[in-house]
Amino acid sequence: MRVLITGARGQLGRALQEVLTDHELIPLGQEEGDITRPSIVERIRAFQPDVIVNAAAWTQVDAAESQPDAAFAVNAWGAQNVALAARAAGADLVHISTNEVFPGDPGRFYREFDPPRPGNTYARSKWAGEQMVRSLWPRHYIVRTAWVFFHGGHHFIAKIIQAADRHGRLRVVADEFGNPTYALDLAHAIARLIRTRHYGVYHFTNSGFCSRYEYAREILRLSGRGHVPVVPIQHHQWPRPATPPRHAVLLNTLGPYLGIELPPWQDALRRYFRRENTQE
Ligand SMILES: NC(=O)c1ccc[n+]([C@@H]2O[C@H](COP(=O)([O-])OP(=O)(O)OC[C@H]3O[C@@H](n4cnc5c(N)ncnc54)[C@H](OP(=O)(O)O)[C@@H]3O)[C@@H](O)[C@H]2O)c1
Repeated sequence: MRVLITGARGQLGRALQEVLTDHELIPLGQEEGDITRPSIVERIRAFQPDVIVNAAAWTQVDAAESQPDAAFAVNAWGAQNVALAARAAGADLVHISTNEVFPGDPGRFYREFDPPRPGNTYARSKWAGEQMVRSLWPRHYIVRTAWVFFHGGHHFIAKIIQAADRHGRLRVVADEFGNPTYALDLAHAIARLIRTRHYGVYHFTNSGFCSRYEYAREILRLSGRGHVPVVPIQHHQWPRPATPPRHAVLLNTLGPYLGIELPPWQDALRRYFRRENTQE
């Protein structure tokens, strides 16, 4: 199939290019494929893709609070443009969304049909994007994921390692929970999904979940920094511009019907570090 990828230089965009090797790929980065430009509709249509994966997004969660229009431009208006492009091209659309569309009430786990209630600007912009996709083009898969990491990305793993090396000790929030997700595993799941034509909403994350504190401990251990002391703190001791959901843990209840399940996050993290170490 001809698969067009937006946001091709982001974490997921790059992982998809590694995985979708059986397909003819059209990777568009922001420079050559800015999804906020109305002309992107005709530009994408002209490539005549069979499938479009919209991996482009404004992902700076905290910055979205002070620049809401910029976040909505990419995550909502951009999603609208890509949905219109999919409709114009007659292409299937995979649109990527986030666990943050859920409120993350402590102790809650979220299934695909649970009602979203976004609690910060980034989350509201992503929820608006989902709604644009839903209303404009039925041949869509909405794939919600969480805590994505990939080589060379600006993710939690890099921040923890950098902070450990700089300060020699860490304070990490122990009452915020999520599902760490290796972009490579997510890309494999998407590769299987696009063959099904089973449109709908899916939750694809590595299986299992953890707190930021547990995640940091595992990152330090696997990166040879297990000796670095980590103090667990409460979320209110780490104030941020955006309020992240405390327990927006996703459950993948529908993927298994299609034979799509992702490995445990600890296994994914091990593979991530194995590759990081061989690349050094
Ligand atoms: N990262 C996470 O933890 C996380 C968690 C849950 C859901 N998600 C979702 O997963 C998807 C992929 O995220 P990711 O981690 O791969 O993000 P990422 O690494 O930040 O990649 C996003 C890409 O989108 C591009 N982009 C930004 N504005 C654009 C525009 N106007 N037109 C075209 N491209 C544009 C960026 O270009 P530049 O490289 O030029 O900036 C970047 O390459 C997104 O939908 C995100 O919301 C991510």
